[in-house]
Amino acid sequence: MQLSHIQKFVHQKMDGDVTGHDYWHAQRVVDLALRLYQQAQTQDQVDNQEILILAAYLHDTIDDKLVVDPNQAIVEVKSLLDQEGISEVNQAEILYIIEHMSFSANLGQKQPLSLIGQCVQDADRLDAIGAIGIARAFAYGGAHQQVIYDPEISPIEIQDKAAYRNHPSTSINHFYEKLLKLKDLMNTKAGCQEAIRRTDYMQKFLQEFRDEM
Ligand code: ADP
Ligand code: NI
Repeated sequence: MQLSHIQKFVHQKMDGDVTGHDYWHAQRVVDLALRLYQQAQTQDQVDNQEILILAAYLHDTIDDKLVVDPNQAIVEVKSLLDQEGISEVNQAEILYIIEHMSFSANLGQKQPLSLIGQCVQDADRLDAIGAIGIARAFAYGGAHQQVIYDPEISPIEIQDKAAYRNHPSTSINHFYEKLLKLKDLMNTKAGCQEAIRRTDYMQKFLQEFRDEM
């Protein structure tokens, strides 16, 4: 497997995205997931960082909010993994992780994930919170014609994916509907600690926002 080929593929798919899902989101998820995995690993667990790195780089390249045809995107990912000599078993594990890790896929019922999958999921969630999370939420909101704030629109309790994607919301509401809740959904100890730190930072930001309003 040649890492530069994977990175080139991710650049091609994600460069130019203005919704907070550009190449550097994928790269941060790789770096964070590796750190979490190294901290969570116990001695008898098989070290298989290749699956983790590939799942983290590719996790948003088949997402239905970013690609027109997710099935076609899966075909492209499989063909990349074939070219890079990734075994069928490892390909299946990578695709399982990226198809089951998203917030929306876990609304209603929690999807079981391996330790590797849990680390990639935690990393993706960490990148949605803290300073970067704040920046990404407003970028996403702007790109989707969503207002920053409206005192007449209250946050709702998100029950399913259709409501999550389609209810009228504001970027500030997104913090209450999702981002502040992520710290309670973390899988790993290190991920949870970092999520608490980043959530404190978001709480301070929201307090300042309310004060200025
Ligand atoms: P997942 O890929 O885990 O299902 P999403 O695709 O819903 O999660 O969200 C990815 C990121 O996009 C969020 O963490 C957030 O930064 C941003 N985002 C999604 N929905 C909204 C929204 N309604 N308002 C602001 N940001 C949003
Ligand atoms: Ni992501």
